[in-house]
Amino acid sequence: MCGIVGAVAQRDVSQILLEGLSRLEYRGYDSAGIAVIDNGKLRRIRTVGKVRELASEVNKTVLPGGTGIAHTRWATHGVPSVANAHPHVSGDIAVVHNGIIENYAEIKDKLVGEGFSFESDTDTEVLVKLVDYYLRTEKDLLSAVKTAVRELKGAYGAAFINTKEPGHLVLIRSGSPVVIGVGLGENFVASDPLALMPVTHRFIYLEEGDIADISRFDISIWDSQGNKTERTTINSDYVSVGDASKGKYHHFMEKEIYEQSVVIPDTLEGRVNNGCFLPDSFGARATELFKKTEHVKIVACGTSFHAGMIAKSWIEEYVGITADVEIASEYRYRKTVVQPDTLFITISQSGETADTLAALRLSKNQGYLGSLAICNVPESSIVRESEMVFLTRAGREIGVASTKAFTTQLVALLLFTGSIGKVKNRIDSETERVMVSSVERIPEYINEVLKQDNGIVKISLDFVNKRNALFLGRGVMCPVAMEGALKLKEISYIHAESYAAGELKHGPLALIDSEMPVIVIAPRNDLLEKLRSNIQEVRARGGVLYVFASDNCGFQDAGNMKIISLPTVPDVISPIIYTVPLQLLAYHVAIIKGTDVDQPRNLAKSVTVE
Ligand code: G6P
Repeated sequence: MCGIVGAVAQRDVSQILLEGLSRLEYRGYDSAGIAVIDNGKLRRIRTVGKVRELASEVNKTVLPGGTGIAHTRWATHGVPSVANAHPHVSGDIAVVHNGIIENYAEIKDKLVGEGFSFESDTDTEVLVKLVDYYLRTEKDLLSAVKTAVRELKGAYGAAFINTKEPGHLVLIRSGSPVVIGVGLGENFVASDPLALMPVTHRFIYLEEGDIADISRFDISIWDSQGNKTERTTINSDYVSVGDASKGKYHHFMEKEIYEQSVVIPDTLEGRVNNGCFLPDSFGARATELFKKTEHVKIVACGTSFHAGMIAKSWIEEYVGITADVEIASEYRYRKTVVQPDTLFITISQSGETADTLAALRLSKNQGYLGSLAICNVPESSIVRESEMVFLTRAGREIGVASTKAFTTQLVALLLFTGSIGKVKNRIDSETERVMVSSVERIPEYINEVLKQDNGIVKISLDFVNKRNALFLGRGVMCPVAMEGALKLKEISYIHAESYAAGELKHGPLALIDSEMPVIVIAPRNDLLEKLRSNIQEVRARGGVLYVFASDNCGFQDAGNMKIISLPTVPDVISPIIYTVPLQLLAYHVAIIKGTDVDQPRNLAKSVTVE
C-alpha cells in the first residue's frame, strides 16, 4: 500500500528518497513520485509503474535539493495515472499522503467556492489545497497544517513541504503510521522504518493525532490536544532483522517459503522448555488473564484470518472453551455481543492493517478481559496498543503473499492453545509433552515437505491454462484449503475457491469437469475416510484431482488423480506442515505463468486503509 519517504538534509536527497521508495516497493503500489525544493522552486517528477521508472526519469535530469518528499501510490480514489500520483501540489506546497480523507468531497466543494481548481481525482489533492488555503492567513506551513487537520475526517499519514520554508517538513498522523528517522544534522520521515535503514536506525513514532515540525537540527511534536510533547526515540533492531535481499532465491516469496524451517525455531526460542509451554511468554499478566478466560474472540484479515480459523479448532479441541473468529472489516461495523470473560485476540503480520487496528481500538470499550496481539512487527501500532503481545519472529516478510508470517502465527497460536490449556488445567502433562515435542519437530517436517518441490513443479504445469481451481479440506484442514486457494489466486490470478469437502454435494459438484482442478488436503486423521468418499464424488464426475496426502494413507496415482505424498505428522501440527506444499504450488504456477510473484497486481502487503 502507499509509501511515504521524506528528508531534510544539507546534501541532495533525491537518491535517498528513491532508495527509500524502492525499499517500500514490497508493500504494493501502482505509481510513484518525488518532489524536492531546488533553490526555492518545487521540482516534481511522477510516473506510473515501478520505482525504477521514476528513478530513470529522475536520472535523466539533475534534481538537487536538501528538502524533499516521495511516494508510492496504491490507488483508492482515481485510477493509477501521472495526474493522480503524489506528490500533489498547490501553490508553494507539496504533500504525500497515505490513507483516505473521507470528507474530501465536502472540503473540495468549499475550496472550489474559494476559487481553487483541481487536477486529479484524488482525495489527497484536497489536503494540499486546504493547507494552501489556510496559508493565506496563517504565518507558516506548520500553522496552516494545524488549522487544516481540524477539518479532516478519515485516516492519514502525510508529509508537507513549502518552497518558502526550505529545510522544514511537517508530518501528521491519524490512522496511518508514520515515523521520523533521526539523523546527524539531517532528519527523515517515512511510513515504514525499513525505508530509512540506509540512513538511520533511530526512530520516533508519531502517535495518533500528532503533528511534527522537522528541520535538520530540530524535531518538535504536538499531540492531538495541541500541546507540545516529547516522543521516545528508539533504536530499532527490527529493521535490520530479516535480510532484505533475495540471496540465492529468485523471489522473496520463494526465500520466505524456504525460511520457514529457520524462523519457526526462532519463534519457539524461550517459549517452550523441557516439554512444557511457558504461559509467561504471552506477558506478565498472561497467567492471571488466561485463568479467567472462558471465551476467545479472534479478529484478523486475509491470511491472518485463516490462522485464526485454525486456532479456533485447536482452542475448542484442546482447551474446551469457545473461540469465535471474525474478519476485522466486518467486526468493526456490526453490533457484537461480548460474552463475559472473553479475551480479544488480533492476529496481524504487519500490525498496521487498518481494519484490525480499528477493531482492536473498538474492543477497548466493549468489556473484554484484555487484548492479546499475535504480530510480527514489534513497533507496530497493534503491538503498541495491545495489553499482551506475542511476537512471531518471522523476520521481515517482503512477498505480498504471506507465507512464513502465517506459519509462525500458527506456531504462536498453538503455543497460546497449550499455554491457556495448561493454566486452566485442561491439558494434562502428557498431552503437553506430546504437543511441545510435535511443535519442536515442525522444522524437520517442513524440510521433508520442501524436498517435494520438484514433484510440485510438475503438477503446476497442469494449472497454467486453467481459469478456476477448487481446494477441499475437512475439519482443521478447511482453513488450510482456504489459505491454499488464497495463495493461488493472489499470485497466479487463477480464480480459486475453497470448500469444506462435506459441502461438495450442496453446490460445487455442479462445477466439476476436466477444466476444474480439485486440490484435496488429506493428512491421515479421523476424517480421512469421509474425505475419501468426497474424492470419489469428484472422480465419479470426471474431475481432475491433486491429493496432498500423508504417505501412509494408501492413495495411489490413478487416471485423473495425482498424489503428492507428504510426511505423516502428528495431527496437531498438520495444518502447519500441509500449508507449505500449497504455498509451493501457488509459487510455481505463478512462475510458469510469469506473474509478478512478489508484488501481484492490485494487492498490497500492508493494508493501511480500510
Ligand atoms: C494483505 C496482505 C496479506 C495479509 C493481510 C492481512 O492483504 O497482502 O498477506 O494476510 O493483508 O495483513 P496483516 O498484516 O494484518 O496480517
